[in-house]
Formats: sequence, structure tokens, C-alpha cells
Amino acid sequence: MGIIFNEKEKLFKLDTPNTSYVIGIVGSDGFLGHAYYGKKLSDLQGVKDLMRIYEAPFTPDTNARDRLSFLDCFPTEYSGHGVGDYRESSIRVKTAAGHSAVQPYYVSHEIYKGKRKLEGLPATFGAEDAVETLAITCMDPALNLQMVLEYSVFADTDAIARSVKVTNLDENALYLEKVMSGCLDMDNRDFDLITLHGSWARERHMQRLPLGCGKHSVGSLRGESGHQEHPFMAVLEHTATQTRGDVYGFHFVYSGNFQAMAEVNQFNQVRVLMGIQPEDFCWKLEKGESFQAPEMIMTYSANGIGGMSRSFHELYRNHLIRSPYKNKKRPILINNWEATYFDFNEEKLLDIAKEASQMGIEMLVMDDGWFGNRCDDNRALGDWEVNEDKLKGGLKKLVDGVNALGMEFGIWFEPEMISPESKLYEEHPDWAIAIPGRTPGLARNQFVLDISRKEVRDCIVEKICKVLHSANIKYVKWDMNRPLSDIGSACLPADRQGELYHRFVLGMYEMQERMLSEFPDLLLENCSGGGARFDPGMLYYSPQIWCSDDTDAIERLAIQESTSMIYPLSSMGAHVSVCPNHTVGRNTPFETRGYVALAGTFGYELDVTKLSEEDKAMVPRQVAMYHQFNDLVREGDYYRIASYQENHLYDCFQVVSKDKKESLVFFVQVLGEPNMHSRNIRLQGLDENAEYALWDVTVEPGKELLQETEVSVKGDTLMYAGMQVQRMWGDFKAKLFYFKKK
Ligand code: DGJ
Repeated sequence: MGIIFNEKEKLFKLDTPNTSYVIGIVGSDGFLGHAYYGKKLSDLQGVKDLMRIYEAPFTPDTNARDRLSFLDCFPTEYSGHGVGDYRESSIRVKTAAGHSAVQPYYVSHEIYKGKRKLEGLPATFGAEDAVETLAITCMDPALNLQMVLEYSVFADTDAIARSVKVTNLDENALYLEKVMSGCLDMDNRDFDLITLHGSWARERHMQRLPLGCGKHSVGSLRGESGHQEHPFMAVLEHTATQTRGDVYGFHFVYSGNFQAMAEVNQFNQVRVLMGIQPEDFCWKLEKGESFQAPEMIMTYSANGIGGMSRSFHELYRNHLIRSPYKNKKRPILINNWEATYFDFNEEKLLDIAKEASQMGIEMLVMDDGWFGNRCDDNRALGDWEVNEDKLKGGLKKLVDGVNALGMEFGIWFEPEMISPESKLYEEHPDWAIAIPGRTPGLARNQFVLDISRKEVRDCIVEKICKVLHSANIKYVKWDMNRPLSDIGSACLPADRQGELYHRFVLGMYEMQERMLSEFPDLLLENCSGGGARFDPGMLYYSPQIWCSDDTDAIERLAIQESTSMIYPLSSMGAHVSVCPNHTVGRNTPFETRGYVALAGTFGYELDVTKLSEEDKAMVPRQVAMYHQFNDLVREGDYYRIASYQENHLYDCFQVVSKDKKESLVFFVQVLGEPNMHSRNIRLQGLDENAEYALWDVTVEPGKELLQETEVSVKGDTLMYAGMQVQRMWGDFKAKLFYFKKK
């Protein structure tokens, strides 16, 4: 890792363990150009040529008559607006005089150890010996607008974190209408584009398409990152696979409206941009005021998609997740949502806890329906007082009862919402986000609270903390079940209404920060109608996020594959639920459900008192399996071997311990195939010179978890020749293989 500035060439070189990123200062005006991003370079000789500044159209100080032509093809570090670069801009303003143009020019720079915090925003972090930062100050002298571009590199991970801070140094106020967090220009190398798309219960399905001419974008205008599209893009060589080829990954550390775009222009140049969604964004900057744009992560892998995944995983595990649980085994929880929905009382919960505790389950989570008159999803959001008709004797009595069984207790909240039928709404109808004269739209019969207002945040955080202080509560599930609409705040002036979406996100971050600073040992799981706010921003607050309301093991294969392409397995909320599954009606073997949930946080979401004796007997075996393998799953390196999303037949992935001594291979045969032989799978990430012994894993009651096999194979054989997985009889069958170095 390291950042250097070559004074003579006017080039910055930012190195991570295996990559280099080069920025140049060009011409007497100080255009900031992008020279290179890829495999690590040993020096900078010849690199300036990559920006083509010695070819026509030359820099404007050499040939001012072609200034527009220069700007429209110059590989820029942060694109301006309205002065000649006709590709997508990174920044746009509205001045008092109504003008929108901006062009950044280099002024100065600073290189420092460590990384500063981004005020009010989640961001990566690291100690002074683990991170180094370059801050480049640019100005648009015509506007008196300062733009500081920051780049941080990490000693242990091939990732670069970028952000931008804009300050108005003019006498007059100005409106920031667009501010992307990063821009990357490269020549097209027959690239494909991977993006993630979905819906409720179908989050983050992968799409890979050739990157053609024009603009390709994903985004959200829902006030959250959303079920539908994900703040992620990968630009990769058309021939790139899991193990080979150049892959550039981009991810946005933010939980609200976003836009990610890849543009291919007339010269076959690619521009990637990522930042806050410009639509419905307008931020007023008075004299001296600044706007901090959220952080964007870039990673380059010369070793295919798998290399990109492992870089993101390392970065997030070591430099984004803060929770005290990040390196710890999480308690195996049982959540009552799919078991009871709203139909529960303290007796029912204690019944579940009693049975669960005997099976080794370690925490009971009480989901939606415990507060106000919340008998269904039509009322009571905002009334965060325990419903003692439902929970006789109160919350403490219930929690003490659960603790007496040797289990911990967790609870659900949906703090950003308000039901029209609630005491809170009766008292504060103006606390809901709405536009005067327009009836705001309901979704799930609820409105969104205007948490850009301090008094609203104070009230809700106080109510939550009061509940958390009232009993021994170790876990919170923080839910959000509708997107924003009818964007209007009763408190913001007309020329600041365009700030509401972002102020909402800042408000939510502040609320989580306050709750966590009052309860630093709390295990927080974020959630949004399943996985609508599964993003790196939320990981800064919670080490795990509920992946999807679809708990069907087969549906989860695709959702978890795409999620784990970017996020560590330790962050994916995954539970064993009942069959027929509540979202698709599918029947999947209990073993398979357990193996798929093992690849995430692992827990249960069913009524254990109603399980068949056969399934009941398997729960303690699955619990033992979790204890045996969670360290490996949580901390190991992840390798994708086969994708059910691609082949529609089977799924296979692997985790390998950092020291390469152990590995776990997950194999799910989704569909049985007639007249087929065993399947060859080639493992990855092992020590090629070591010999590995193989154990079959079984959760069959009465049997040892690890079944010795007598098989002993060299790492190179397993990786280059592969191993044979015998066909199983039927659909949805799964196998887990454990390898240990001899
Ligand atoms: C959506 C969540 O994803 C579910 O797990 C559950 O908590 C419900 N909300 C409760 O309303």
C-alpha cells in the first residue's frame, strides 16, 4: 500500500497490494486526468501517455481552439458539466444567476496516513498503518466552488474508497443539483456489465450483459437502496469468469437514493459514475457551507469475479463493520414472524422458547406485533409501548422467562414509520412526510416519519431506548417496510425541500448511531421488508442484514449467490423456515434448508412446537453443525464454483480458512437429472501441495456430524482435476463436504 506523487510527471500513484491507480495533473490549467487503474505497476514511466495528452486534440493551453474536443474525450478524474465534456457529468449546480456549469481544476493536494471520518455518514475506516489517503483540492474559480476529492487505499485489501466534499466559497448561495461520489474513465475492452435486480422476496438477481454504446444505469428513487436495483456495478472483460479476467467492481456506501451509470461514448471510452441520485436532489450551500457526498468503493481484480468478491469481503469485514459481533459467532436465534405473524401472546412465545432452548437455540426474537394495538399491519407504528393485553405481565416478565430458559431475547422495531391509526399520529399529524394539499400515499397502510426533524428523531430514539432499558434485550431487528413518496417536510423552506431524501437517510443513520452508543453491546440486524436496504451503509451499523423475506432454500440460492458476490457470508441474515414455504409453497428437505442457512448467519423462523418429530430431531444436529463450522464460514475466503442462476441445475460454493487448513464445500442439486453421471467440481483456494482428508457432513440424528471417508487427495488434484459429486435421488438435495489438511 502507498501513495506517491511524482512531481516531475505530475502523477499520483495509489497502490493497494495488487493494484495501481494513477491520476495526472494536465496542462497549465490543471485538468485532473485519469491515467490507469489495473494490475500493480512498478513505476510511472510512460504512464502519462495513457491520457493521450500528446495527441490531438491537445490540451487547451497548447491548442485552445479545440477545447471542447479535448474535454469531450479527455479521461477525467471528476467530470465537469456544461463546458465541453458532453458525457455524463459528476457535478452540476444552479447559481443565483441560473447557470449550471462547473469545471474542477487542480489546486493542491495532501497525502496523509489513516482516513478521516465522513461527518454523519457511514464509511470505511482503518488505523494509520493500514490506510493512506490522498486529498486533492480542486476549484472552479468562476464559481468559487471547492471540490476535495479523497482516495483511500488499504494495506490488506485491493480496494479504493473515494468521496467528494464540495464547499461554496462564494458570497452568494448556490444549489448543488448533482454530486457523484466518483467517476472512472477507461478505454472499453469488450466489457460486460453486471448489475443486480429484483423485487420483494426476489432481491439481487444477477444480470450480465455486453456493455454497448450509450448510457446504462441502475438507481433508486425510493428513499432507500431498494429491492429493485442495487448500488453496485461490475464492469468486466467479456471473457472474465469466476477465476480469470479483469473485473472492476463499484459499490456505494449509502442507504438512500442512488444512481450508478456506465456510459460508452463515440470513442469507445467507458465512464462509470456512482453517487446520490440526482433526480429530486437539490442541496443549498450558503457561503462557507459544505456538502459531504457518501463514499464509493472501487476494486479491481485480475483474477475474475471471485477476486473482486474476496476484496469486498475483506474490506467490509475489516474496515466497515464496527459491531462488537463482527468477529464473533452470533447466537442462533429463532424469530417468531413466520411462526405466528401477529397472532401471539407471552404464552405462545414461551412455548416456542421452551422447545427451542432444549434444542440448543440461543435467542428468541419477538417480531412485529408486540406494541400499541398492533393486532395487524394496519395500525400502531410509532406507539412503541408494550401491549400488555398481549404480553401479560409486561416485557420484563417475558424476557426474564426466556432468560430463565437459558436463552437471550431480541425485539423488532420499525422506527422510521407512523400509522395513521396511532396515538403518535393523533398527536403529530405533521410528523408524516407529505406535500401540503396532496394526500400522501399509503403503503402497507403506513406513512413515513419526517426524521429530518430533530424532535421526531429524539422522540422515537427515546421511546426505543426506554423499551431497551426496560428488560434484558440483546438484539434489535430494525425494519423499514415501505419506500418514501410524496416528498415534503413541514419544516424545510421551499428551497431546501430537495434536501429531504438525503436528510432522511442522515436522520436514520443518526438514530442508529444514538441507539448503538447507548447500547454498545447490542446485536443489530437491519431489515427492510426483507432485503430492500441491504447495502454497505447499513453494514456500518449492523454486522448482519436480513437478506430477503423469501426463506425458501432454493430461492435463497440465487439471492445469496448475488449477495455474497459482494458481501461477506457473515452479514447475510438466513433462517430455516417451514414447508411448504410461505412465499413459493415449495417443499425442500430440512437438511437442505439448514445447509443454505448455514451459509449466512443461521437461525430459525418457524414454530418449533409444530415440527414433525423427524425435523425436531435434526435441529440439535444443525445447531452442532453451526457451532462446528461458523468460524470457517464467517472468517474464511469465499469461492463460487457453480451458479444455479446460470446453469439452472445445481449450485456450489466453498469457503477456505485463511491458513488453507480447512475448507467447506456446499453443493445443492436443485434438479435431479435422468441418465446422468456424477458431477465434476473443481475446488479453489486450497494449498496445491497439501494433502486433504475428506469428511462427509451429516445432520442425521444419531450419527456423528463428521463422517470419515478414507478419501485423501492433494490440493492440486482437487483444484485442477476436481472431485466427483455423486448424483442424488430427487430434487433439492444437498451435500456438505469438509476438507482438512493432513
Ligand atoms: C418485514 C420483515 O422482512 C419480516 O421479517 C417481518 O419482520 C415483517 N416485516 C414484520 O412486519
